[in-house]
This record gives sequence, C-alpha cells and structure tokens, in this order.
Amino acid sequence: MSNDELYAAGLLNRALDPATQPPQIRAFLQEEVALLSDVIVDGMAMVDVGCGTGRHLAVLRDRLRIGVGVDYEHSYIVEACRTARGPRLHFVTGDATRLPLRRSFDIATCLTNTWGTMSDKPAVLDEMRRLAPMRLVSVYAEASIPARREWYRSLGQVVVDESDESLTTEGGFRSEHFSEKRLRTLVGECTIRPFADIGYLVLF
Ligand SMILES: C[S@@+](CC[C@H](N)C(=O)[O-])C[C@H]1O[C@@H](n2cnc3c(N)ncnc32)[C@H](O)[C@@H]1O
Repeated sequence: MSNDELYAAGLLNRALDPATQPPQIRAFLQEEVALLSDVIVDGMAMVDVGCGTGRHLAVLRDRLRIGVGVDYEHSYIVEACRTARGPRLHFVTGDATRLPLRRSFDIATCLTNTWGTMSDKPAVLDEMRRLAPMRLVSVYAEASIPARREWYRSLGQVVVDESDESLTTEGGFRSEHFSEKRLRTLVGECTIRPFADIGYLVLF
C-alpha cells in the first residue's frame, strides 16, 4: 500500500492513540502543542497543511481569528469538522501541492513530520510560501528512528527498510527523517532548531 492508501485506511487515528506511542514520540507531540501555544498569539490567521483530524487547530481555536486545515484524506476532514468545531475553524479536503485557498494567512504550518510523508516536498513549501509570510515545519531527525520503529510496529507496520533518509514498513508506509544539511538543501533559506530530542523545527 502507499501512504495515501494507508492514511485512507485510518493509520493516523491509530497513531494518535497515546497507547501506541513510545515516550519520545509522546514528548515530541506534547512539545509541539506547547510550542504552538507560544507562537500563535491572539487574532492570528493560520493554515495547517496536512491537518489530519484537526487537533492542532482545535487546541488554538479560541485564539485564532481564522484557522483553516487542509488534508487530502476526506474522512479526516469529516472527523475534523465533527470534533474540532469552532466558529472560526474551517476544514477543507485538498492536496498540499495545490492548496484550494486564495486568502492569505499570518502563519502556515506543516506539523508532526507530515512534510516527511509527502512526496512532492518543494511544491508543498511553495504553497506555504504563497499563503503566509511565516512558515513552520516540524520533522523527525535521525535520532527518532528507534522510537519510530517501535511506534510503527505497534501500528502493525513493521519497518523492513531503513536508509539515511527514510523508514519503509512491510505495509508500504514511508516516512522520512532529516539532517540539518538535507533540510537546508530542500528548504533553502531557513532557520533550523533541534526539537524535543528527536526532531527539528524549520522556520522559513
Ligand atoms: C503524519 S499525519 C499528521 C496529521 C496532523 N498534522 C497531525 O499532526 O495530527 C500526515 C497527514 O498528512 C496528510 N497528507 C499527506 N500527504 C498529503 C498531501 N499531499 N496533501 C494533503 N494532505 C496530505 C495525511 O492524510 C495525514 O493526515
């Protein structure tokens, strides 16, 4: 199966169950939420690319002037509309390489290594640049490999291939990890900060 098919089969819902998450992964997810609470101030407009079921926008719903989440997996958008409700939150089914949006935002985010599961990475960055002057991506570093192996195994996705750039599971899920050098090559001008022991934050 491809990543698209695995997401369509509900992989994200299982991955977000804390019972499946090794401690380093749980810590990474918690630090992301804490970071967003610092970075997003009252009245901002935010677009979250690859928003899944909308958990990050849901946390920020009382602060945002407008929050838009986009994901290509329609069932996640349906779930986001059901659970991440708020008068200023909107969820749209669409591809990150051709975001179906015209308005501009204060910040565009792509969180929890979502960018590391997308195939056309430059196109996603270009879309984020088009929509917002501040862009934030969080990704996994090589140090995440042992925790991700364990996490994916608990999701029934045993890792069968490991390279300098990615893990691939028996079921076909492919998730990348990054070095600072590779991030600079892919993103260009950016600020990179180590994050939660197993990842990086990229501001560009
Ligand atoms: C690792 S999950 C993270 C979801 C969400 N950001 C979160 O942290 O809960 C990656 C998400 O990206 C979505 N996705 C992957 N490729 C995409 C693409 N090309 N366009 C839109 N969404 C995509 C998947 O459907 C999935 O919901």
